[in-house]
Amino acid sequence: IVRRADGSLYGDNTDYAGFLAAASKAGICFSGKKVLVFGSGGTSKTARCAVEDCGGKVTVISRNGPDNYLNLDRHSDAQILINTTPLGMYPDTDASPADLRRFPVCEGVIDVVYNPLRTRFLQQAEELKIPFTGGLRMLVTQAVRAAELFTASEISDEKIDEIYNGIERKKRNVLLIGMPGSGKTGLGKKVAHLTGRTFYDTDALIEERTGRKIPEIFSELGEEAFRTLEEEVLSEVCRKNGAVIATGGGAVMRESNRRNIRENSFVVYVDRDLSLLTTKGRPLSAGKGAVSKLYSQRRGFYLKCADAIVKNNGSFSAAVARIMEAANETACD
Ligand code: S3P
Repeated sequence: IVRRADGSLYGDNTDYAGFLAAASKAGICFSGKKVLVFGSGGTSKTARCAVEDCGGKVTVISRNGPDNYLNLDRHSDAQILINTTPLGMYPDTDASPADLRRFPVCEGVIDVVYNPLRTRFLQQAEELKIPFTGGLRMLVTQAVRAAELFTASEISDEKIDEIYNGIERKKRNVLLIGMPGSGKTGLGKKVAHLTGRTFYDTDALIEERTGRKIPEIFSELGEEAFRTLEEEVLSEVCRKNGAVIATGGGAVMRESNRRNIRENSFVVYVDRDLSLLTTKGRPLSAGKGAVSKLYSQRRGFYLKCADAIVKNNGSFSAAVARIMEAANETACD
């Protein structure tokens, strides 16, 4: 509620403006579209009103309503899907309101959840190449609307992008993936140091927890036990915000890990020529042809998870600079 210059009181709903601004930024248009809104709480009401004002036709999906999660197939012709429930929100980040493969004509996905930055729902939209927007965009644009109302001024689109990018960069992790011995740990440590971020190395955390070195874990407990520990540690560190994370070379092989890797992080694939990879202390890299075999099994997954690829065949400082540049990071004092 704003008191105007003439003393009158003016009420507004900033979520309404934030929601529409986020949709428009993602190129999602509601006019004439069949829209499913998951959830029936406060944000659902706002989304419903905004969509209908733009000419969309809304069906609300709720646990106890006539249209619910058990008869979703009735609405497989939906064109835009909007999640206003807490499904997928931290700490239950594996949840999602719907499997998008059941909506073959879906052309837009909106999630109001902003922790994690890329919910499972959004990750699926991204994989299926459906335009999408996450909750952080709406959170920022509704705050912008509030600031505009309180200060009776207008904030430019460029300024909004600048604010959004700044917050998103600060919140997300920079996470390194790539072949064993490609330099992830050393590069990650340096990037963390330069940017003032906390550094996590999943192998170091596993060693700390088990009190054993990685080769010992492989020889005494076996690879499967190592992978279980790796999955556990990775799912914890991927929930951090603003950290730098170095992962083990095999982390991308499990689907659950790939989801966790992308949920809150800007993912950099450190790509180093096979002939330059260090093999010391890496049980799976030992033996003739072992490294090329790992590479052929993994390369596709590295590429699938990556937001950026950074070559690391030259100097250490050049690779550090390229990671910083790709992640849009600057050194702090
Ligand atoms: C592994 C890579 C290692 C370590 C473990 C298994 C792999 O980490 O997690 O030896 O499967 O490629 P680095 O990638 O840091 O060497």
